[in-house]
Order: sequence, then structure tokens, then C-alpha cells
Amino acid sequence: MAKVKLDKITRQFDHLIAIENISFEVPDGQFWVLVGPSGCGKSTILRTIAGLDSATSGQLYIDDIPVNNLPARQRDVAMVFQNYALYPHMSVADNLAFGLRMRKADKTQINRRVHEVARSLNIEHLLKRKPKQLSGGQQQRVALGRAIARQPKVFLLDEPLSNLDAQLRDDTRAELKQLHARVGITTIYVTHDQIEAMTLADRLVVLKEGRIQQIGTPQAVYAQPANRMVAAFLGSPPMNILPATFTEGSFRLHHQSIPIPETIKQQLSSHQEQSFDLGIRPENISIASTDSPSDLTASIKVEIDLIEPLGKEILVKANLIDSNIALNFSAPGQWKGNKGDRLSVELDLSQLFVFEPSSGRSLLVSS
Ligand SMILES: Nc1ncnc2c1ncn2[C@@H]1O[C@H](COP(=O)(O)OP(=O)(O)O)[C@@H](O)[C@H]1O
Ligand SMILES: [Mg+2]
Repeated sequence: MAKVKLDKITRQFDHLIAIENISFEVPDGQFWVLVGPSGCGKSTILRTIAGLDSATSGQLYIDDIPVNNLPARQRDVAMVFQNYALYPHMSVADNLAFGLRMRKADKTQINRRVHEVARSLNIEHLLKRKPKQLSGGQQQRVALGRAIARQPKVFLLDEPLSNLDAQLRDDTRAELKQLHARVGITTIYVTHDQIEAMTLADRLVVLKEGRIQQIGTPQAVYAQPANRMVAAFLGSPPMNILPATFTEGSFRLHHQSIPIPETIKQQLSSHQEQSFDLGIRPENISIASTDSPSDLTASIKVEIDLIEPLGKEILVKANLIDSNIALNFSAPGQWKGNKGDRLSVELDLSQLFVFEPSSGRSLLVSS
């Protein structure tokens, strides 16, 4: 096992800067997830760590040893890709043993290790089969198994679950987490899927356009997003972002207004801008139950645009009345509402976020 440190890593392809000034340090045994939309540089970072690509500038360390010039096979890292390739003519057992044989491990040792790994991944009964006799999920497990079999110092996973269908993806995700808890290999996992990222990570590294936006535990990043991109990227359905102006102690939202909570007021007092982007998550909006909202909530009138029943709840897509400013929220499963209905909803003001429109920076997070 090992710790991995990136110090100001940049990778440029001709005129394109794929990743810029990337620095973070993964402590020994932790599970870190690089997350961000497609093209933000996740794979480039992973390939650089693996030694499949090299940084234009910056320094990479594994266990405090600079490894920029060390070839991939000497770094003792194992990487699993979305399009994993098993050796089709070899049995599952031989696929699992491949890396160990390459390293000339002893036969009994290899055999024991293959069974150990197969047991931990629930594929012991498949050892004699060939890859084409396996389902997609089983193949993916063999690919993971092949990578862990030789007990690398670092485990790198690039969207390893993307090819699986939804149910299998959820199951394999849970197994992966349990597996990590058992073997504890330092792991860096790449995904564009925020649910995968939230559920797996000890720490998230959120990326956009080749730059780090925020690093933190899933809970911390969700509760205190550094900027609008992070806020809107994590959470499903995503946070609502509402353009607002600041007038006489209230936020004006189109033709309506909401009071500004005291806690926020203090933080805005030094701010010169008069326009803001307000953020509120769907779970912090509820259908108004009384006509007199409390100090902690504010009423807003909306018109329903679309109803999506999910069983236990209903996702409601609405707009502030007479506008095309979207405000999405969820309603109890039994709630009756129709497209075109107008109603009041209550915003939980203690859960309001405020972003600077130009930079997207959160004005409520000290950084
Ligand atoms: N070998 C390459 N040559 C040129 N551009 C590349 C190369 N690899 C990646 N890129 C570009 O770098 C950016 C980041 O790519 P990548 O790391 O694959 O993103 P992600 O994995 O987050 O989807 C993209 O704009 C991509 O087109
Ligand atoms: Mg990628």
C-alpha cells in the first residue's frame, strides 16, 4: 500500500491544456474519487499516475518517491478501464493468475491467491469458464480481480462500472466498497456519475475543465459547495439556481421577493454586486401547508410544468409564475397536482446558497 501525491501536475496536448495545476495527496489506504463531467481531465490524471501518459510539468510521488521517470510497470500500480479486456482464450483462473505469472510468483502461491481473490469477488464458481461464458458483470469482476490479484500498491479505476446495467452497477458498487474495506489498497477511482462518487469516496476531487474545483468528504462538499458548478453537479435532482437581485433587505426573484436570512445578510454586507445566483436544493422546498410561513421559510408562487411520479415521491418541475425560471422540488407520493396548476411552495431559508454570478464562487463558504 502507498500514498500518492500530485504536485502541480499539468498536461498539455498541443494547444489544449487537459489538466492544469493538479495537486492532491491520497493517504495510504484511502479511497478517493475524481468526479466531473466528461472531458474534464479525469482519465488524463489517472493515466499520468499509472505512467501511461506523462505530465508536461509537475511532480508525481508514490510513497514520497518521485516517479515521473519511472516506467509504468515499475510503479506497482494496477489500472482497470471501462473497456477492460480479458484474455478470451484463457479461463477465469488463468486470467486472474496472469499478472502473478508474469512476475514469476511460485505456483502454490499463485493458486492460493487466485482462490482468495475469486472468493472475495464471488466468482469462485466461475474459475473454469472462459470470458465469453460470463455476463458483463461477471467479466468486470474478473477484470477487477486480475488487478487486485497481484496486490498492487495503488489501484486505479477508470469508470469501471459504466458498461454495466443499472442494477448490476449498484450491486457491484456496493461490493467494491466492501472489497476496499477488506483489502484497504489505496484507490483512485474516476467517474462522471455523482452518485457513484458520493457513495464510494473517502474524499471527492471535483473537476471541471481540467482544474480542481473542490476537495473534501462527500458530506462536506455537498453541504458546503465551493462554487455553483460543484453545487449543481452533486445531487439528484440537481440544486435549483435562481437569478436574483438584492433590494432593500430582500432578494428579488422575477416579480416576487424573499427575505434574506440574518446569517446571509452579514456575509453579503461587504459585497458590492447587486445580482446573485441563489441556490436551493429540491429537498429543501416543500409544498406550502399554511398561509403564514415561519421566519425560516419563504413562500414562492410557481406554476407546474411537469409531474414525474416515482412511487414514494413525485418530482415536480415548475417555473416561478409568469417566468421561465425553473424551480424543481419533490412532493409526497400521494400528492395530486397537474400541469398548469399554480401553488405556493416554501423554501427553507437556512438551506439557501448564494453565488457570485460572474465567477460562480459561493459567497457563504470561506476559502
Ligand atoms: N491523447 C490526447 N490528445 C489530445 N487531446 C487529448 C488526449 N487525451 C485527452 N485529450 C483531451 O483532454 C481533455 C481531457 O480528457 P480526459 O482526461 O479523457 O477527460 P475525462 O476522462 O474527464 O472525460 C479532453 O478535452 C480530451 O479531448
Ligand atoms: Mg475518461
